[in-house]
Amino acid sequence: MAYSFLEKEIKRTFQGLPETLPCGSRVFSGKVRDIIDLGDTLVISTSDRISAFDRVLSTIPCKGEVLNKVALHWFSRTEDILPNHIIESVTPRTVAVRKCEMLPVEVVVRGYLTGSAWRDYKAGKPVSGIALPSGMQMNQRFETPLITPSTKAEQGLHDEPISSEEILRQGLVDPAVWDTVQKAAIALFRRGTDDCARQGLILVDTKYEFGILNGQVYLVDEVHTPDSSRFWFADSYDQQFRAGKDPHKLDKEYLRQWLMDKGFMGDGEAPEIPDEVRIETARRYVGAYEGITGTTFTPEAGGLDEVAAVDEYVKKMR
Ligand SMILES: Nc1ncnc2c1ncn2[C@@H]1O[C@H](COP(=O)(O)OP(=O)(O)O)[C@@H](O)[C@H]1O
Ligand SMILES: [Mg+2]
Repeated sequence: MAYSFLEKEIKRTFQGLPETLPCGSRVFSGKVRDIIDLGDTLVISTSDRISAFDRVLSTIPCKGEVLNKVALHWFSRTEDILPNHIIESVTPRTVAVRKCEMLPVEVVVRGYLTGSAWRDYKAGKPVSGIALPSGMQMNQRFETPLITPSTKAEQGLHDEPISSEEILRQGLVDPAVWDTVQKAAIALFRRGTDDCARQGLILVDTKYEFGILNGQVYLVDEVHTPDSSRFWFADSYDQQFRAGKDPHKLDKEYLRQWLMDKGFMGDGEAPEIPDEVRIETARRYVGAYEGITGTTFTPEAGGLDEVAAVDEYVKKMR
């Protein structure tokens, strides 16, 4: 797919909101998202920034809009499983959400033995405290999906795997809440897997974040996006797996791979990312949007003055 609009959009990628909005509200920034705290409500804007190896390295045209719209798609597809934090859309990249008390763990669900889980397994280590059967192959499907939580690390540090037992022992999450979260995570993963299968995709693994509001568990942050999940193409999986080769994938591995080919693994100075690599990465994000949702991506945010639009909304809500 050509996606000719990307050539134009690359000139105006959305770097993110300024530290302070014109109306005076302060903006807090995560790696990818900019957040305005309005008390009970957060306004969250998804920028075009891309992080790899836990570092922000560049911007990718249309990425913020793709991520926000994919997340909205899944929030609406999973409302019957768990309430989520969405209140309303502010712009194509910005949502107003219910502020929740975040659980201090990220809930990773894995359908296949790949990535860091495979690396741990190969090194003879348990995966988040779970002992797996011996003789499993790289990229092999698990009989039932595995929950492998990790701690939410402070900025600049890498997230660390943690077992369910350790989460409870350290009192990080209330046992009844953890039970609800685990059941929800499995149900969400099953929904994602079923929907993706209809699109010819395999939802390989993903990361969920949960929060608490008025004693209720809410699904927050992002759901089944190319940033939080791995997707493989279903049609070639068996063949690739049997040949011991990596499955064909639909995700941000492209930029990671490009960086690794340049010898960058997260330490030291990152290489300059040329525009053609940024555009190719964008093509993959837009392709992911279309593959996952089964609809054509039409950029709506291009040319929009995001700062002015968010400022207007914040003024109205304050
Ligand atoms: N409803 C919510 N209530 C409180 N915090 C939230 C909510 N939704 C998302 N967050 C937090 O907002 C931040 C989103 O910014 P992001 O750029 O993704 O950060 P990070 O660099 O931590 O991934 C995350 O720290 C996430 O946990
Ligand atoms: Mg995040």
